[in-house]
Amino acid sequence: MTLLPRNPPNNEVPSLGRRQVMNLLTFGAVTGVALGALYPLGRLFLPARKPGSTGGSLALDEVGNPIMASGWLASHPTGDRSLVQGLKGDPTYLIVEGEDAIGAIGLNAICTHLGCVVPWNSGENKFICPCHGSQYNPEGAVVRGPAPLPLAMAHVAVEGERVQLSAWWETDPRTGEKPWWS
Ligand code: FES
Repeated sequence: MTLLPRNPPNNEVPSLGRRQVMNLLTFGAVTGVALGALYPLGRLFLPARKPGSTGGSLALDEVGNPIMASGWLASHPTGDRSLVQGLKGDPTYLIVEGEDAIGAIGLNAICTHLGCVVPWNSGENKFICPCHGSQYNPEGAVVRGPAPLPLAMAHVAVEGERVQLSAWWETDPRTGEKPWWS
């Protein structure tokens, strides 16, 4: 008499389909735990993120409310350069380029000489630093020292109604060089 292996009852061994599902779940759980454990180690090998490269921030008014584009344009004429709180809270000029256009470039108002906030002088069509007399043209390029460098720039974009600022890492169009602030 030949002894054939008996199939165990159905309730002892899961069917092929159930085993596959269980294997899949086990694999998923083990993989998830392993990736979670390895993530901090993997971060060590990634390049450091540049400061300010977190996707930008909203332009805020003096009390911290988001700037609304339509309200800003209604109260600031073409050519206006007025301050908002920009990246990392730095005072930053938004430039009104037309009745319905906020310019795509924002100018950081911190003087590159010794760090005073540089006011816009619309009569002179320049930024003129009150501390040591440096002057910058309407695009923030130096026209008179002692400031050694142009005003730093930021990207400006209107998303919905809100004005978004983000870091500028590309070539500085005023100098054709890598931005000094990067
Ligand atoms: Fe602006 Fe010196 S801080 S000129």
